[in-house]
Amino acid sequence: MPGLEKNNAVKLAGVVGWPVEHSLSPLIHTIWAHRARVNGFYIPVATPPDYDAFVRMMSSLQAVGFQGVNVTLPHKENALRYAVDASPAAKKAGAANMVTFGPDGPYADNSDISGFANALHSHLKPGQTIDNAMVLGAGGAARGVVLALHSIGITGITITNRTREKAETIASDFNLKLVDWTGRDDAVGDANLIINTTSLGMSGQPPLILDASRLSSKKIVADIVYTPVETELLRNAKVQGCQTFGGLDMLMHQAVPGFQSWFGGKAVIDDELYTELISELDRRSQK
Ligand code: ATR
Repeated sequence: MPGLEKNNAVKLAGVVGWPVEHSLSPLIHTIWAHRARVNGFYIPVATPPDYDAFVRMMSSLQAVGFQGVNVTLPHKENALRYAVDASPAAKKAGAANMVTFGPDGPYADNSDISGFANALHSHLKPGQTIDNAMVLGAGGAARGVVLALHSIGITGITITNRTREKAETIASDFNLKLVDWTGRDDAVGDANLIINTTSLGMSGQPPLILDASRLSSKKIVADIVYTPVETELLRNAKVQGCQTFGGLDMLMHQAVPGFQSWFGGKAVIDDELYTELISELDRRSQK
């Protein structure tokens, strides 16, 4: 590869999931590797959903010299089970999206949590504080978002979910306020941060119905969905003057620790990277 430094040994990393072809992580890491002049290759590794297949794949990747891997659905819990040790964040979440093959064995971490926290942080204006966050949904992503909010000192959190029992479990685990799914509009009016962690609004899924008149310029609205890049929720929120950010922001932020650990060098999130990801999504949607 032209432009590489001398003695720049090949470094291997990747993303383990099923399916994994749709992942944008290889593009993110390849752009950063190119910028940092690192001889790094980041490979999507399709691995069937069962734990045995995961263990076999991880052992093979370690044996051929991978530095580490990101782990995506459905293996995030398997990653924690497989690792010999894990960060407090991964333990708290009960799931990991990073495994590093260190000298003491595979180590699991969770950069989904820090990724959301850092994405939110990058959108806060100086002096802006959040005292009331509203989380829509109660799956694994909601749990990660709640941990991220706690990690940056936001404890006033309300949760709502179509299936109330799932929200009750998270609410009791993390001491959150719970509202019925049918009462979500009232709760949105009281919140200054609203986060959609459901699959509603994703291409091919029904939209998330929220009363847009409850959104105002004092609120931040976030959506973990990134196909489409701007969901109807974010579009409506922008029209009402809210600050918004979507799933691509979180995706870029969660990728930073893996790049730094496995390839070394700087991983900068900027408009150019964001534009590349949007172009790639456009290319895919035209196929
Ligand atoms: P993840 O682990 O990525 O969060 P998940 O566990 O499948 O994924 O959670 C998906 C979330 O989207 C859930 O909160 C789900 O609500 P239920 O717990 O009631 O299933 C929510 N969701 C999906 N389709 C929905 C719909 N049509 N209406 C309301 N919520 C929906």
